[in-house]
Amino acid sequence: MIRDFANSLIFAAVSAGLIFGAAAMSPVSSEEDQGAIVRGAQLYDKWFAVIKAEKPKENHPAWPASNTKKKGNTTWRCKSCHGWDYQGKDGAYSSGSYLTGIKGINGMAGAELGKIMAVLKDDTHKLADKMDERDFKDLALFVSKGQIDMNKYIDRATKAPKGGDKARGVQYFNTMCAQCHAKDGSLPKDMDKTLGKQMGNPWEVMHKILNGQPAEEMPALRALDTQITLDLMAHLSTLPKEK
Ligand code: HEC
Ligand code: HEC
Repeated sequence: MIRDFANSLIFAAVSAGLIFGAAAMSPVSSEEDQGAIVRGAQLYDKWFAVIKAEKPKENHPAWPASNTKKKGNTTWRCKSCHGWDYQGKDGAYSSGSYLTGIKGINGMAGAELGKIMAVLKDDTHKLADKMDERDFKDLALFVSKGQIDMNKYIDRATKAPKGGDKARGVQYFNTMCAQCHAKDGSLPKDMDKTLGKQMGNPWEVMHKILNGQPAEEMPALRALDTQITLDLMAHLSTLPKEK
């Protein structure tokens, strides 16, 4: 009897730990359609690749003339103005070749979808004739429910993933990623930087691991515990930086 009681206490403690542990570590809420959020996040990355639209040739009208380092279709990607860390001028793009002075999308985390969709269709963005309702809705869903606070997971000064375990990461990588990227992170051939080198931009890597790569077969890990993504990033940091 006492033993049964003790066992049920242990059971309750373990389940509570599992439930709360998962809730604390995953950006996932089971109420949201994670597939739609992932699609929205890939649109944020490179919408014209996802919907197979013609690549814009001219600079985006909202791209500041002061930035001559980037031009053409790159200036139309959401991430180019608002950042991989979603913080725009207050994040990694506060300096460097993507400096635009434009704010992030983080202020709209949790906002009503209709309000975000109205911004996307506004005269600043010039996207109203380029996407359909589903695209705007998925983008809005990502902006509202899919953003994570990257400062929680990546140390800004050292660019290191916080709390990633590279010993677990290597096991994940060699079983889920190496078939496309090779164990040393040097493939596919046409990828300009190795995954090791790519860790110079950990915010981009985190966005890609959680959401996948636009127009590629790469899986998105968003629905899994975020700890897996951090472990993977810790392992990627140990891979060769040159091919
Ligand atoms: C060429 C630069 C540029 C691109 C590309 C761009 N935006 Fe914006 N975005 C802006 C500017 C400028 C604002 C207005 C900022 C302000 O009010 O200070 C803005 C505002 C926003 C806001 C409102 C932020 C807030 O807190 O008020 C959201 C959300 C947003 N953009 C999402 C997107 C998404 C999603 C995409 C891709 C489909 C995108 N943007 C592409 C320049 C850009
Ligand atoms: C089915 C094949 C496939 C699998 C599996 C896969 N990827 Fe990818 N991944 C790709 C392709 C293709 C690209 C785009 C490469 C390029 O830029 O040319 C890519 C891009 C990336 C990028 C962005 C690189 C860049 O230059 O922007 C990262 C980071 C990445 N993958 C990490 C991972 C991790 C971590 C895993 C395992 C969880 C994984 N991938 C699994 C195919 C895959």
